[in-house]
Amino acid sequence: MYVCHECLTDSVVMRRMQRMTKGSLEQYLGGEADRAIHAFYDALPGLSRSEWPALMHGMGYNFEHYDALFAQVIANLQMALDDCDYTARHRTVQLALLPFCSEYGIELKHDLQHNHRHLYADFFRAATGRALPERYPREQDNRWLAVSRRWASRMRDALVHRSTGDAERARFNLGYYWAIEHLSIVEMDTMRLAWNALGVQATYLDAHCAVEEDHDAYATRAVLAFTTPEDEVVVRAIRAHEADLAGYYDELTAMARA
Ligand SMILES: [Fe+2]
Repeated sequence: MYVCHECLTDSVVMRRMQRMTKGSLEQYLGGEADRAIHAFYDALPGLSRSEWPALMHGMGYNFEHYDALFAQVIANLQMALDDCDYTARHRTVQLALLPFCSEYGIELKHDLQHNHRHLYADFFRAATGRALPERYPREQDNRWLAVSRRWASRMRDALVHRSTGDAERARFNLGYYWAIEHLSIVEMDTMRLAWNALGVQATYLDAHCAVEEDHDAYATRAVLAFTTPEDEVVVRAIRAHEADLAGYYDELTAMARA
């Protein structure tokens, strides 16, 4: 049940985390995204190398678009200022900012690092021998980019969540955000193994695998600073993102196998 009116402190978050040992947020996932991610990376070796530049440019759109989604989540949390307590709101935004900053090479207690887009460009060059284009073309010639754009747009629309109020939208955004971060662990691990097996090594792959568990932990604490692990809006959002991610990878797999 939603308890935004409570004055939430870290001890409240800790109590909620302890309660979660009986059933974490992970229990709301059905395994569809895991299946779809593995199916795509199982199909990747069968794809012609001549397709790699278009594929990686398209998938790069999807990865970069998550940065925009994180910004949207944080904006929607902060926009709930008429509808919930400042203690919960600010603690949650603080926790949600950490994975977001990480995408830009900003990590606690570290000097400024390369942002992940810069690392993705290195990865693109290592795999294809070409420079990552600065812009995504408006034309729909690249089918991998077209499908990435379509699913990115669907995810962005999900966060708009035309609901009854700003706090409910914020809770939905948090659940969706948690699912993005949590599913990124298996997504990045599987991606690194697949590309390494194809002879492609990249700091982008290693850097993501190194931080995703921390991102997941921050995302979990962000959810618990704002609401309870049983919040049905959060549960709905977790399932919505899992379905979107599975849908995206299923389309990629069908294209890779065609
Ligand atoms: Fe992440």
